Amino acid sequence: MAFPITRLRRLRSTEVSRNMIRETQLTKNDLIMPLFVRPGKGVQNPINSMPGNYQLSVDLLVEKCKELYNKGVQSVLLFGIPEHKDEHGLVACEENGIVQQATRAIKKELPELFLIADVCNCEYTTHGHCGTVIDGDVDNDSTLITLGKQSVSLAQAGIDMIAPSDMMDGRVGFIRKALDDHHFANMPIMAYSAKYASAFYGPFRDAAESAPQFGNRATYQMDPANSNEAIREVEQDIIEGADMVMVKPALSYLDVIQRVKTEFNMPLCAYNVSGEFSMVKAAAERGWVDEERITMEVLTSIKRAGADVIISYHTQDVIEKL
Ligand code: PBG
Repeated sequence: MAFPITRLRRLRSTEVSRNMIRETQLTKNDLIMPLFVRPGKGVQNPINSMPGNYQLSVDLLVEKCKELYNKGVQSVLLFGIPEHKDEHGLVACEENGIVQQATRAIKKELPELFLIADVCNCEYTTHGHCGTVIDGDVDNDSTLITLGKQSVSLAQAGIDMIAPSDMMDGRVGFIRKALDDHHFANMPIMAYSAKYASAFYGPFRDAAESAPQFGNRATYQMDPANSNEAIREVEQDIIEGADMVMVKPALSYLDVIQRVKTEFNMPLCAYNVSGEFSMVKAAAERGWVDEERITMEVLTSIKRAGADVIISYHTQDVIEKL
């Protein structure tokens, strides 16, 4: 008998057979585009560390959403940069808050575009931490109160899904109850469940003007060395009522994505974060990597690991190819 019997190369020999056996297919349904909104009119501030991304005022944000929607983007994740910040992030709970304004304006023009709000205090506090600071650290239980208020206010503005990214203990349950009490029992929660204290958020903090003014986020975000703990975080969020769970960042945490998917079989999102995006852009700008190929490889690998949906700044660049 000829050797070797098994030749895996046989099915790799033509494009058609390669397509036939492809196990992971990226589609338009899989991607969520993050966008940054700030006050003003006609404002389009480029985010230097994230080429192709801008802080937009509401009017231009609506235009951007139309452009994305026409390309096939079905969902965007909104981050707000407010006019004024305060100690507790209460500015994020106002009826006329920046994301609330953006939500109403987008929904008026594009009722079909699915809007997700990142719920956290770090963009809204003077100190840049994700909650109310007491004795030099973020106080868990008083932060829950602002997170609950922020979520209800966003629901009232017409958001389609709430995504808490603060990493306080008990926040999913607290927000679920706040939403239910205000007649939003059908509002889904996508929890940033396993969110790591990551250096990959660097460019985002420029984009959202949310860098902590002292200390770091290690007392609430997870240690990158831990994976069993991620399972406990996800388990808690599911118990508290999360409809979808998330692992963030994505690329250095593909093992966590796979573990979470296998252990819970929950709808799973992965966040391909700012630093992951910017590294690709920077290397591509220098001609060191092929941007188009590497981007598809990155996104495909996240889906292969087990993510059902991916939040990615690459969305606007790849959507038309899907
Ligand atoms: C808010 C938040 C952050 C990101 C998403 N939501 C920043 C942080 O936790 O410091 C990071 C997203 C990215 O890097 O693309 N807490």
